[in-house]
Amino acid sequence: MDATTARTRLIRGLQLAYSGEWGAVHAYLGHRAALRHGSDRQLIVDILKDEILHRRIVLRMLEALGAEPDPKRERKMRRIGRTIGCLCRIGGWYLPMYGAARLESANIVEYEDLARLAWFADREGDIDELLHLAEVEWDHEHWLRARAATRWLWRFSPRWAVPDPRPTIRERFETFRAAPKPPAERKPGLR
Ligand SMILES: [Fe+2]
Ligand SMILES: [Fe+2]
Repeated sequence: MDATTARTRLIRGLQLAYSGEWGAVHAYLGHRAALRHGSDRQLIVDILKDEILHRRIVLRMLEALGAEPDPKRERKMRRIGRTIGCLCRIGGWYLPMYGAARLESANIVEYEDLARLAWFADREGDIDELLHLAEVEWDHEHWLRARAATRWLWRFSPRWAVPDPRPTIRERFETFRAAPKPPAERKPGLR
């Protein structure tokens, strides 16, 4: 893949990630409101803070590329995030926790793909930060799944592929560096 194509794909991917984080912020605001004070609520607050920080980081990357967020995507993801946030208030304890873990699992690979696109686009300086974003999304999936798994409903819930151990995020990137291959186009998830 040439650098120009990679740059175009990187910008689009960052726009999707930026708005995905917006959706996540709204969903977690609803999730937070649905929880009583305690360790579960604190977990959601911590994740919420991460997602807000992620938006800032991604925005900085977009601006450095001379691009800006996609307003249409922003509106769409805010709508989706708010809907999920409202559902959290009626979904009891389990469904929001399970759903959030499941959504987070898709975000890990999305940031890994963006790191690969950054490599093709000669944005070496963004790679480490994008891999770190993937690692933090890994943490989110891990924490939320661990909470959901404490409930009996977990035994009857459909599962997703458990992400490989956290260090494999960096290992996969080094493997990619040795034999670079453009990432496949994927459907964006929620952060
Ligand atoms: Fe995030
Ligand atoms: Fe997340």
